[in-house]
Amino acid sequence: MTAYEIILRKRDGDELSSDEIRFMVEGFLAGDVADYQMSAFLMAVFFVGMTDAETETLTRVMLGSGATLDLSRVEGAKVDKHSTGGVGDKLSLVIAPVAAAAGVRVPMISGRGLGHTGGTLDKLESIPGLKTDFASGDVARLVDEVGMAIVGQSPEVAPADRRMYALRDVTATIECVPLIVGSILSKKLAAGLDALVLDVKVGRGAFMGTLETARRLAQALIATADRLGLPAVALLTDMESPLGRTVGNALEVVEAIDVLSGGGPPDVRETSLAIAARMIHLAGLEPVPAAALVRAEAVLTDGSALGVFERFVAAQGGDAAAVRDPSRLPRAANTREVVSPRPGHVVAIDALEIGLASLGLGAGRTTVDDPIDPAVGLEIVAPVGAAVSAGDPLAVVHWNDPTGIAAAVDRVGAAFALGDERPEPRSRLIEVLECEHRAP
Ligand code: URA
Repeated sequence: MTAYEIILRKRDGDELSSDEIRFMVEGFLAGDVADYQMSAFLMAVFFVGMTDAETETLTRVMLGSGATLDLSRVEGAKVDKHSTGGVGDKLSLVIAPVAAAAGVRVPMISGRGLGHTGGTLDKLESIPGLKTDFASGDVARLVDEVGMAIVGQSPEVAPADRRMYALRDVTATIECVPLIVGSILSKKLAAGLDALVLDVKVGRGAFMGTLETARRLAQALIATADRLGLPAVALLTDMESPLGRTVGNALEVVEAIDVLSGGGPPDVRETSLAIAARMIHLAGLEPVPAAALVRAEAVLTDGSALGVFERFVAAQGGDAAAVRDPSRLPRAANTREVVSPRPGHVVAIDALEIGLASLGLGAGRTTVDDPIDPAVGLEIVAPVGAAVSAGDPLAVVHWNDPTGIAAAVDRVGAAFALGDERPEPRSRLIEVLECEHRAP
C-alpha cells in the first residue's frame, strides 16, 4: 500500500477500504505521508466524496489518533450540543445551563472564533477571571458538581483533526461534508458523550449557505453518529441575519444573561429552548420532545438555569457577581450610532457583513494568534421587521481602536436592507432531522 495508490484510487472514484484510510491518516501523523500527499488526498475527497462506510472509518481513525475524556465518574446522561457557527451565536451560554438545570450532564467542549463567526470560549473569557483550560479530571469534577462545564479542547484530543484541518484551511478543502463530519464527530466522540444535538446553521452568516448543503451536512452527521453508536439529532436553524441583538464577546454574554433572567430577544430564547429540549429528550429525562420543551421553559422561568450559570462561572474561576451585575464586564470606551437613511422597514440584516464589521472592530480574529478585544462589537437597535424613520438608529457600534471604526460603520450601514413592506416574521427553526434507524 502506498499513499500514491490511495490518492489515485480516491481520485478515480473508488471506495477506499478501512485499511487504506487508516494508512493515510496514521501515516500522515507519523510523518510517513507527506503534507502534499495529504493535501492531494483531501482534494480528491473534496471532489469525489466518501461513502457512509468511508466517513465512519475516517471518523474512527481520527478519534483513535488521540486521547478521550474520562467522564466515567459523572452519573447521568452526558449530552453536548455543537453549532456549525454563526454571527451573534451565544446560544451555548443559555443552552448548557438550561439543560443542566433540567438534569442533563453537559460536558461542553467549545472553540474560539475565527473569521466572521464568534467562539463560545472567547465570549466566556470576557467574564473577568473565567478559565476554560482544564485537565480531564477537572472537567469531570465540574460536570459532577455544577452539572456543566464549558472548556477548550485539550491538545491530546483528535490530533489528526488539528493537523488535517490546518491543511484544509490552506488548500480550500474546508467545505467538504465527509471531512467536516470526521472533524466534528471525532472531537465530540472523544468527550465520551451519550448523545449529541447538532445546530446546523443555514444562510449568509453560516458555513453552509443553502438549505440543500446544510441538510446534506446534517444528514451525514446524524447518520455517521448513528453508525458510531452516538444518538444524535440535528436542527437546521436560520443564520441569514445575526442571532439576537448583539454581536461581540462581552455584549453577547450580557444578552445571554438577559435570556437566562427571563428576558432577551425572542429568537435567542426560542432557539436555545428548542436545542436544550432536544438534549433533555435525548438524555431520557422526558419521553417526548414537547414535554422536554416544557421542562426547559420551566427551569428558565423559575431562575434555576440562571443559578446554574452563576455556579458555573464561579466554578471556572470567573467573577460570579458579574452575572447579577453585568456592569462588571468589559465595556468599550466609545459608541457610535448607525442611522437609517430613509423611512421604511428593516427587511434583512446581512449576518456575514455584520460578522465582518465586528471582526474589523477587533472582536474576532483573522489568524488563530490574533488578540481580541472583549468589549467591542455592536448592538442591533432595529431588528428585521422593525419600522424606522429617516435618522432613527439601526445599530450602535461599540469601539475602542479608531483604526477600524469608519469601515465598520460603513459595513453595518450596508448590512441593513430597508423596504416599504414589513417582512413576514420567520422562525429561526427550519427543521429537525432525526436518525431513521438506531444502531443495534
Ligand atoms: N468545524 C469543525 O470542527 N470542523 C470542520 O471541519 C468544520 C467546522
